[in-house]
Amino acid sequence: MPTRTREGYCLGIESTADDFSVGIATFKGEILANVISAYMLPEGGIHPREAAQHHVEVANKVLEEAFQKAGIKPKDLKVVAFSQGPGLGPCLRTGATVARALASYLGIPLVGVNHCVAHIEVGKLKTGAVDPVTLYVSGGNTIVAAFDSGRYRVFGETLDIALGNCLDVFAREAGLRQKLGEPFGAVVEKLAKNGQKLIPLPYTVKGMDMSFSGLLTAAVNLLKKGETKLEDLCYSLQETAFSMATEVTERALAHTEKKEVLLTGGVAANKRLQEMIRLIAEEHDAKFCVVPSQFAIDNGAMIAWTGVLAFAHSMITPIHRSFVRLRWRLEEVEVPWMK
Ligand code: ATP
Ligand code: FE2
Repeated sequence: MPTRTREGYCLGIESTADDFSVGIATFKGEILANVISAYMLPEGGIHPREAAQHHVEVANKVLEEAFQKAGIKPKDLKVVAFSQGPGLGPCLRTGATVARALASYLGIPLVGVNHCVAHIEVGKLKTGAVDPVTLYVSGGNTIVAAFDSGRYRVFGETLDIALGNCLDVFAREAGLRQKLGEPFGAVVEKLAKNGQKLIPLPYTVKGMDMSFSGLLTAAVNLLKKGETKLEDLCYSLQETAFSMATEVTERALAHTEKKEVLLTGGVAANKRLQEMIRLIAEEHDAKFCVVPSQFAIDNGAMIAWTGVLAFAHSMITPIHRSFVRLRWRLEEVEVPWMK
């Protein structure tokens, strides 16, 4: 890294969807704070404008707590990074506004970070992976990616809904109850552990891409018929969806011959998915890496750390070009810090 970026702090703001989070990272990659405030509708799901309103309301408190945890003052910051996309417009704009205000007030550079790149970078930081095939599975994304010629290339992705969303909608249709703060995917996981019978459900892999909407419809239809045990349905839904993601990840691994597999995103918390990905990693003599859950879900620390990497390569975002990018794809972003 250039000398000027050897020491300092970067504050990162994450607000792509239902979480508003602020993280603070040192230029060496220590995470000093990672405060997350989640907006939750009682019945699940997300309303973009209401989530953005939540972000406005908590921004001040979350920022203050992050500075307190990190034990630094705003004037100690060298850079402010923010999640510039992809994500929900109203939510992204709220985070961007806070970031612009902070950077201009302090007179320091602003760095717009791609949310998907950040999921990969924090995964590498926290697991020690250097050049992995990544399976990024969350409520909004299902992507298999790996670095090639200057960028993270998308090897496979969902053609419709994300894997996490498939689990969430199923859980809502089944009227499953969550404990406070418990994600629907975790509720499905618990029930699936008691499932015994594998019920055939649509398994859709087209080339390297996946489709989960037919699977969801079939599972919901069976649920409504009321003839199948809920535990068996949860088990079968998981087995089918996870096998699809695992198949695509394995093919990317075989094709790229990378020596690491990184699992990230909210669904990475699922033990059965971890087991499946671990198995294919072992079969290909690759190291299996899974991101600790506080860094797997949407968080400000990943934005702060990716901000550090970008800033070290002079990737600064002038305020007049800091508009949010709702559909900013992973492979559009150059990652010069990868060799
Ligand atoms: P992104 O903006 O990256 O798409 P997101 O807003 O969906 O992220 P995350 O926290 O990364 O947020 O992911 C949430 C998803 O993770 C939800 O679909 C949730 O049900 C799922 N999830 C959380 N824990 C588990 C688990 N144990 N098993 C399966 N799914 C889980
Ligand atoms: Fe995310």
